[in-house]
Amino acid sequence: MADLRAPKGMNDVLPDEIGRWHLVEKAFRETMHLHGFREVRTPYLESTALFSSAIGEGTDVVEKEMYSFAHHKESLTLRPEGTAGAARAYVEHKVHNQEPVSKWYYLGPMFRGERPAKGRYRQFSQLGAEVFGDPGPAIDAEVIDLLYGFIGRLGIPGAEVLINSIGSEEARAAYRAALVSYLTPLKEKLSEDSQRRLEKNPLRILDSKAPADIECVQDAPGLDVHLTAEDRKHFDDLKRSLDALGTPYRVEPRLVRGLDYYSRTLFEIKAAKELLGAGDTVAGGGRYDRMVEAMGGPKVPAFGFGAGLERLLIASSAQAETSVVDAFVAPLGDGDGVRLAALRLAKSLRAAGVRTEADLRGGGAKSLLRRATTLGAAHAIIIGDRELESGLYALKDLAAHAQREATPEDIVRDLALLRTEKGSS
Ligand code: HAM
Repeated sequence: MADLRAPKGMNDVLPDEIGRWHLVEKAFRETMHLHGFREVRTPYLESTALFSSAIGEGTDVVEKEMYSFAHHKESLTLRPEGTAGAARAYVEHKVHNQEPVSKWYYLGPMFRGERPAKGRYRQFSQLGAEVFGDPGPAIDAEVIDLLYGFIGRLGIPGAEVLINSIGSEEARAAYRAALVSYLTPLKEKLSEDSQRRLEKNPLRILDSKAPADIECVQDAPGLDVHLTAEDRKHFDDLKRSLDALGTPYRVEPRLVRGLDYYSRTLFEIKAAKELLGAGDTVAGGGRYDRMVEAMGGPKVPAFGFGAGLERLLIASSAQAETSVVDAFVAPLGDGDGVRLAALRLAKSLRAAGVRTEADLRGGGAKSLLRRATTLGAAHAIIIGDRELESGLYALKDLAAHAQREATPEDIVRDLALLRTEKGSS
């Protein structure tokens, strides 16, 4: 068979690594539930048109990164992000008729055909949230604060919140025109990518990483002079709300983000550069007040974020529990009686909530105990003919290097009690 490797930029997560994923996913769910969010699951595939119209034809995501294919004359795309699908579901199910405000969260894989690098993959996972029906800006601040707190809880050093306002549609149109007239005489100096962007998506030139572009935009006009009085008030109120919540932030006038649907609030959270290099943005989001209406729904404002799970994992110092089971049960040798006794004991332990590995291959005591230690079991019960006859099994406490004899019923009761104590501590 040819090359049997995972596709470039797509990674396996093996069982040894999954503990940290579970830790972050659990912490995320707990945080979201604490704030009244509920989970939504939308398809991994959506119509290509959904993404190209919601995210914007001129964006890198739509222009170069989508995995699209034709199926029965329909063009489908693997979701590059979660917002467009969530908004589509919100409109399709007329959720606005059911409640004034909907707070949704999601977690799962996204797909973008980018050049792979540290923290940048072609299949990656996002933890995301969307709030429909609240015009903000207090909710914007509350969600930014929630995310900042969550990132702190993961033990990520140097997290910094950057905010900006990109204004309403009219402000952006005016700014776009001003930027194009400023950059057009400098066109030759811009990077190749940005020369193209000048026509399609000039705002993106502002956050280009190419040195030539950085030089060209250094003295470019700012967007703030174009903000309407209402945009300005929205942004000032956002800052006051963040201050009230005690969330530190920095205003970054050049922050534009790579997706076209935003209006007013934009934000990103970066982690320490030495941890993630160029991909130091662990989360980003903002307000997108036009999307629901553009999809055929009513005028419903919205705000949300997406956080890169792999990037959070790289930056986080959180460690997962490595123990696979609490108890290890095995017959000594390959006799029928001891094997059935081990099977029965393992079943009773599990029924009492004790995570149990039954190793039924029938080995010697030494190698069985080695395996019990590798699996991180706190206790081992190895049943030989003598134990079977007396009805008293040897219960080994592997950490304390101690051993005592007990009936199967007592073993189940004692280990179940220990498990409950551990679970509640
Ligand atoms: P985004 O900034 O494109 O926003 O992605 C959010 C986060 O996903 C990024 O900050 C990054 O941590 C992670 N990410 C993006 N691309 C990759 C990649 N190729 N490899 C690894 N991680 C990646 C959105 O997707 C918006 N939907 C966020 C949002 C929700 N805005 C409003 N609501």
